[in-house]
Amino acid sequence: MHWPYPVGFAHRLGGALAPENTLAGLLLAHRLGVTAVECDVQLSADRVAVIAHDAELERTTSGNGALAAHTAAELLQLDAGRHHHPAFAGEALPSLQKLAATLRRLGMAVNLELKPDGDARRMGQLCAAQIRQHWQGAALLPLVSSFSAEALLGVHEAAPELPLALLVEELTPAQVAQAQALGCRALHVCHRALSAEWVAQLHGLGLAVMAWTVNQPQEMQRLRQWGVDMLCSDRPDRFDPAWAA
Ligand code: G3P
Ligand code: CA
Repeated sequence: MHWPYPVGFAHRLGGALAPENTLAGLLLAHRLGVTAVECDVQLSADRVAVIAHDAELERTTSGNGALAAHTAAELLQLDAGRHHHPAFAGEALPSLQKLAATLRRLGMAVNLELKPDGDARRMGQLCAAQIRQHWQGAALLPLVSSFSAEALLGVHEAAPELPLALLVEELTPAQVAQAQALGCRALHVCHRALSAEWVAQLHGLGLAVMAWTVNQPQEMQRLRQWGVDMLCSDRPDRFDPAWAA
């Protein structure tokens, strides 16, 4: 099975090495030789796609309350770096547009995880339109994942060219069937749920496999021996350099 994405993905742009979901993390991953990143996508109050993990702002930014209650202009002014370390103070919460421009300049691949809050199908449609716009003409499109099948359905409706991946915590035949029904190209699975048998079975169905979130080198090597196609990690500094290809 030909799979165009690299093996090693830095979780939340820079893993645990920098403030999560920031361009500082992305640039650090790039300096380490990493060629692919994962990040989380949400919609602002004015329906602009931004990069953040939590539905609430307090844990990782200088803001308060629900992310979805703030406009993009308000969100992009927040400090998303100080919580990690004062040295990162002033680091902004990125827009999808800014992220796309940076990734394309650096020639990096991305897995965008949609985290819907509210109408997941509509969120998927709106994000798909913005992804299409920001990656227009790109040689490699973002791999779009979500725990929400409804969000993936919305993506497919608005931009059927975008490759999809269903995110799952546990592996069951029903989830595999759901991924297939959605036309997914990959299944993104909690690493603890995987086995050599599961990887072979998923490959037999034409599905690529990402294991998340894998931080121990021995575990990374074992998953690769099983044939796992992609590893998402908080420790991209522990990747084998060969996984950047
Ligand atoms: O890649 C999957 C992983 O990112 C899902 O967990 O909570 O870090 O978004 P979370
Ligand atoms: Ca994620």
